[in-house]
Amino acid sequence: MSRKRSLSSAETLIWPITSAIEPIDVKKLFTVQNPMELELGCGDGSFTLQYAKQNPAINIVALERLLGRISKLNRKAYRAELKNLRLLRAEARYVLEYLLSPNSFEAVHIYFPDPWPKKRHHKNRLIGGFFPPIIKRLLRKCGVVYLRTDNAEYFEQMLEVFGAAKEFDSIETPEPMKQIITDFEREFNAKGIPTRYAAYRSK
Ligand SMILES: C[S@@+](CC[C@H](N)C(=O)[O-])C[C@H]1O[C@@H](n2cnc3c(N)ncnc32)[C@H](O)[C@@H]1O
Repeated sequence: MSRKRSLSSAETLIWPITSAIEPIDVKKLFTVQNPMELELGCGDGSFTLQYAKQNPAINIVALERLLGRISKLNRKAYRAELKNLRLLRAEARYVLEYLLSPNSFEAVHIYFPDPWPKKRHHKNRLIGGFFPPIIKRLLRKCGVVYLRTDNAEYFEQMLEVFGAAKEFDSIETPEPMKQIITDFEREFNAKGIPTRYAAYRSK
């Protein structure tokens, strides 16, 4: 049975979060300073890898809490010699609220976040009423949030949450962005479940 070799600390693209209190200085994540974008719940990186390869002048921070998924992305990104991608293994909400610097990102991507379909679990959803102000703080002026889901009911919640957020305007998702399909998306679409898109620009 073949075992995947772990990358050494010199090889890894996973940025170590060494303090639960000290904010992460996001500029230090990259050697070349370029506009930054953030993906939350990147899984094993099907979006991020394609996007990073197509956009070498965008620095991308991809966050995921599951070790297996982020390790897989780490190996692929390292092999592809991507210099514009850094990974954070963490719980999104804590990092968004306490560890990332304000006014840092031109865009935040959230694709197929866990829908938590049972009503008693809705409180675990990433996109709830608390979310727009947290994201607004991280975005630069006119920064954009891109959302996708397969779940009709969660989609309604996303529309309600951002519809009520005075600090955002609804915009169309650009077609070239839609062409970058994620692994989960491919699976859902193959079962006949369409992708629901929404995007919001920060005022
Ligand atoms: C359904 S998967 C979608 C993965 C990827 N975005 C895609 O479309 O292929 C959702 C991912 O978000 C991650 N995730 C969910 N909630 C999270 C949280 N609060 N913090 C960090 N990662 C989270 C999960 O571990 C999972 O990998």
